[in-house]
Amino acid sequence: MIPAVARRVNMLITMTERPTALVTGASRGVGAAVARALGPTHHVILGGRDESALAAVAAELPDARPWPVELTGVTEADVAGVERLDLLVHSAAITRMGLIAEQPAAVWREMFEVNVVAVAELTRLLLPALRRAKGQVVCVNSGAGQRANPHWAAYAASKFALKAFADALRQEESEVRVTTVYPGRIATDMQHEVRAYEGGPFEPEKYLTAESVARAVLAAVNAGPDAHLTELTLRPAAGPVN
Ligand SMILES: NC(=O)c1ccc[n+]([C@@H]2O[C@H](COP(=O)([O-])OP(=O)(O)OC[C@H]3O[C@@H](n4cnc5c(N)ncnc54)[C@H](OP(=O)(O)O)[C@@H]3O)[C@@H](O)[C@H]2O)c1
Repeated sequence: MIPAVARRVNMLITMTERPTALVTGASRGVGAAVARALGPTHHVILGGRDESALAAVAAELPDARPWPVELTGVTEADVAGVERLDLLVHSAAITRMGLIAEQPAAVWREMFEVNVVAVAELTRLLLPALRRAKGQVVCVNSGAGQRANPHWAAYAASKFALKAFADALRQEESEVRVTTVYPGRIATDMQHEVRAYEGGPFEPEKYLTAESVARAVLAAVNAGPDAHLTELTLRPAAGPVN
């Protein structure tokens, strides 16, 4: 339910043409939280595979539309019609934990396809629209993109690659701001998978909320036009999990 005051603000924003944001992974977890946080101010394009989940998030927001997509196969036709893009948030990713001794090439390929190649390709396809808007790209990275630990090699390597992608893009595209956000553990489906692998309980009070990560993304988006917030690290205030 959108409160009346917010509805009036939303109507005013719509009348003055909202900036457009495309958020991947918007069907759940961090991407959905980012989409909700952008909802009051932006026209939000919601990327993901689960069409009913995307439709449910869209229905909560004043100006949003689902964009069902398998990101590993994204093509020019998928982004046709996006002429101007103010914000591209890459939140979609997968994790497959395991020891290097146990992870075959297929696991590495799968993770790099989603976490790196799809990010690079979607960005490439949307660069003309981002340039037109002098827009911003936000990559949701991970603590694993800052430090590689045992059992995390392939995921961490994909997130180190994502940092490299963001750093190079920032220098190549002088008029597009590029931000990397490095969260610690977040209480989402992905963390359920991680804890199942680690054999520990899922304790959401020890993790970041998806909403806190969304607030960090918003901080980068709302930095003044003179400010380029390049990197942001956030960790659960409760400290590290054993
Ligand atoms: N959770 C954590 O503890 C944690 C910690 C640090 C960093 N991160 C990072 O935070 C970001 C968000 O993670 P999360 O926890 O929100 O993950 P999540 O709950 O597992 O959600 C993953 C999202 O990515 C989408 N997705 C995955 N593969 C896709 C594909 N091939 N094509 C299209 N969409 C795809 C999913 O869409 P569908 O459901 O529609 O398929 C879903 O919306 C990721 O970049 C992750 O690496 C997470």
